[in-house]
Amino acid sequence: MSIFSIGVLEMKKTIVLLPGDGIGPEVTRAAVTVLRETAHEFHHQFEFAEFPIGGAAIDDAGTPLPNATLDACHKADAVFLGAVGGPKWDSLPVGKRPESGLLALRQGLGLYVNVRPVKLLEPLRGISPLKADRLGDLDLEIVRELSGGIYFGERGSAVEDGVERAFDTESYSTSEIERIATFAFARAESRSRRICSVDKANVLASSHLWRRTVTAMSAAYPGIRLEHMYVDNAAMQLTLRPSQFDVMLTTNMFGDILSDAAAALTGSIGVIPSASFGSSAPMFEPIHGSAPSLAGTDTANPIGSILSVTMMLRDAFGLSLEADWVDQSLLRVLSGGYRTPDIAEPGARTVSGSAFTEMLREEMQRTLEHAERYGWGV
Ligand code: NAD
Ligand code: IPM
Ligand code: MN
Repeated sequence: MSIFSIGVLEMKKTIVLLPGDGIGPEVTRAAVTVLRETAHEFHHQFEFAEFPIGGAAIDDAGTPLPNATLDACHKADAVFLGAVGGPKWDSLPVGKRPESGLLALRQGLGLYVNVRPVKLLEPLRGISPLKADRLGDLDLEIVRELSGGIYFGERGSAVEDGVERAFDTESYSTSEIERIATFAFARAESRSRRICSVDKANVLASSHLWRRTVTAMSAAYPGIRLEHMYVDNAAMQLTLRPSQFDVMLTTNMFGDILSDAAAALTGSIGVIPSASFGSSAPMFEPIHGSAPSLAGTDTANPIGSILSVTMMLRDAFGLSLEADWVDQSLLRVLSGGYRTPDIAEPGARTVSGSAFTEMLREEMQRTLEHAERYGWGV
């Protein structure tokens, strides 16, 4: 028995796994390895139930989000998703594609909050495309609205006078803006008390309401400094001086785009996790996609998945000691010079995704032995 189990609440949790497509199953395996190891060492009971989503579900059941998958997610304590999509299903119409399964799942679970932390992993400083002085201490969080906006607005297409036209609609209600902004203000309270709300209020009516609503709310948070920025400038500022940002609050589509741009500052999208919250089970997923060209080559970076697991442990289960243990062990593996190909600088010890995960598992063991002997965080 580990000393950490004494006096610590042992938890029983049901985790639904949605591996999906492309590299999704590979990175999900990494997540499960870390969760199993955590359950074993800290005497928790994590029960896993795997369900199809995306292209795999289209092939399996003819629909990207089978009812059984959504039902299981509703009943879960947490959901982990790998990735969906791929060239095999690219010719399907919008609404029938693997990606629409993910959108229906987010909406079905009422997940209106998506947090994407973009934090420099210190051993990876050298692979950032930014020079060290510009990069600074990169540590920001994108709070992305996840169940509204143009992703879920009215859309359609028609042929008028022989010319094809298609449209999508961006629309937000005051209450949709307020609930995501409330989350962002709370998040800022626990960080450095700064929010940058990103919109396109100089052009879009929905953005104008967004800015007005967030501004009105800020009166209730006198300790938090609110700034507004147009999305085009925000994209530029992220590259020029990312350390000016703490919490970035934005819409569904702007959050999608800005999070990939911010991820690039760390050197690879493969290292960025996310957590989504709403009215039902929370969901955790790396922000990257199914990376079809990497699928089956065991080169996918599992770090985004692993950090999604530590968000699950911390934010869904309240297991912060366990989460710190995984985070610390991960940093030690990186400090040892081990890298998947996407983050390998010259001279690095390049390993496969599964080998990297196995190294992490071994390092987790060593970290635990060390902590049992000398104390935590030494
Ligand atoms: P992508 O994120 O799959 O890939 C973008 C680039 O990053 C590629 O060069 C890829 O090789 C690399 N990359 C991504 N994840 C990586 C990892 N873990 N390790 C190393 N390199 C990694 O985005 P894309 O190419 O635009 O989309 C591919 C498919 O994924 C599409 O079908 C898209 O709709 C889908 N997608 C799904 C999700 C999701 O499931 N959450 C997110 C984004 C894209
Ligand atoms: C993401 C993805 C999804 C999105 C797609 C696959 C629907 O790009 O999670 O970032 O646009 O939200
Ligand atoms: Mn995206």
